[in-house]
Amino acid sequence: MSDNMVEVRWMSGQASLESEGRIKVSVITKQALKDGNVAEWLKPMVDTLERNHLFEGRLNQTYVMPLPEGASAEAVILVGGGERPLTSEDLRLSAAAAAKAAIRIQAEQVLFEVPALLSAWTVEGSSKEAAHALTEGFILGAYKPIHYRRETSAYEGVRRLTFYHEGAVVDQEAEGWKEGIASGQAFAAGTILSRDLTNLPGNLLRPEDLADTAVELAQRYGLEVEVLDESEMEERGMGGILAIGKGSVNPPRMISIKYQGRSDWDEVTGLVGKGITFDTGGISLKKAPGMADMISDMGGAASVLGVIEVLGRLRPEINVVAVIASAENMPSGSATKPGDLITTLSGRTIEMLNTDAEGRVVLADGMTYAREKGASRLLDIATLTGAVEVALGNVATGAVTNDETFLQGFIMASKQTGEKVWPLPSYPEYWDMLKSDVADLQNSPGRFGAAITAGLFIGTFAEGMPWIHLDIAGTAYLPKERGVDPKGGTGVMVRTITQWLITEK
Ligand code: BES
Ligand code: MN
Ligand code: ZN
Repeated sequence: MSDNMVEVRWMSGQASLESEGRIKVSVITKQALKDGNVAEWLKPMVDTLERNHLFEGRLNQTYVMPLPEGASAEAVILVGGGERPLTSEDLRLSAAAAAKAAIRIQAEQVLFEVPALLSAWTVEGSSKEAAHALTEGFILGAYKPIHYRRETSAYEGVRRLTFYHEGAVVDQEAEGWKEGIASGQAFAAGTILSRDLTNLPGNLLRPEDLADTAVELAQRYGLEVEVLDESEMEERGMGGILAIGKGSVNPPRMISIKYQGRSDWDEVTGLVGKGITFDTGGISLKKAPGMADMISDMGGAASVLGVIEVLGRLRPEINVVAVIASAENMPSGSATKPGDLITTLSGRTIEMLNTDAEGRVVLADGMTYAREKGASRLLDIATLTGAVEVALGNVATGAVTNDETFLQGFIMASKQTGEKVWPLPSYPEYWDMLKSDVADLQNSPGRFGAAITAGLFIGTFAEGMPWIHLDIAGTAYLPKERGVDPKGGTGVMVRTITQWLITEK
């Protein structure tokens, strides 16, 4: 994986700032401009910029100002803070904008001036949350995907970020800053792991490679990990994942990691991720245009691993079993065909009408396996349907559930992280659409309501346990950068799932 994390630290008072960075960042809100509440040394320049509509403190706005020789810094990046009161998302976006400006001018070390009053300007009023949002936003905004070009550039991005308050700070505030930086770093690290995995091409990330990554991650944090190969899956009766994997020379893997943060293995949340390392559609072959994007069809698995990375760093007192159902969906002489009959781990049978509706079939076994591993509530995450992108674009993740109050808790968490989640309905009529003439379920109930029926197919295997399904087909892999997200893999939902797990415990 790429080692492109920014090192973040915090200072207050008049510490030796010289060594901390020759580029300063200053967040200026619209209100501060109106009130003239801007540092003395910046005021004349900022006034001129505002008069000439060059910088007005708008959210996401940045202005890079070189400073005269002999000044305490080489340049200052003005960042618009938007309107007060500031939300965590405002801070996150401002920090991401600052990071992008810093990268444009090839800054290596950045000093981020934090107004002493910052947390008082925020909706949450907490220095910990403000520090978390700024740290997370800056690191995510500074992210650069791995590339494979022969020529590499000497500039490697921002290496160090120092937040500093001028003057003295009370202990409690300092504690909040330290904790917020640590949790912001952990959330960003998990998200970046997920982005990097999502961006890996299909030939560099096969189910076995995904399994190796999971094993490495688990070992780094001392977690129990298990990888099932084809013969072990055969013995257990995992006919779903095997049916999808059997067309490829790169065999499927069922991967699980246990994170035990409580003394007893109870109240276990099962996180089940779709890990299709490449989706050609199989015998129901996809069209050529855009097929390369299907390297991201393991985005759900990537996000599950991202969550494990965050849990490994923060060690909350919760129990999680992560399950990743990984296969490569290929057409070949050994591939599953339309019309084939499949028996899943649960014993339920599937009439396979379309081999391109493969995600739900591997996840069927993933869900049952998570229950076998002790899960008492379930969340699955998958780049499942083109239909969810038709409905919500690449803006919001679609959610389906069998328990609306359970989903409400998740949506609350998403409001804190700024990641957008929108519920789709699950009326009985949609469940009825999954019926098959010959099997318990069919895997391709048609175009209408397809994001819902695909979700409910998976929900069948929750066997009545509280369950949430997240369809990230629109949000896991973007055609161009937006906000804190880059072009390509986004690591979507790593932050929200973690936030939800930590606050629901
Ligand atoms: N991996 C795709 C869904 C997808 C589409 C992800 C676009 C990201 C971007 C999934 O396996 C798939 O092929 N779904 C089909 C299902 C259909 C054949 C029933 C779809 O949505 O078209
Ligand atoms: Mn498919
Ligand atoms: Zn797929």
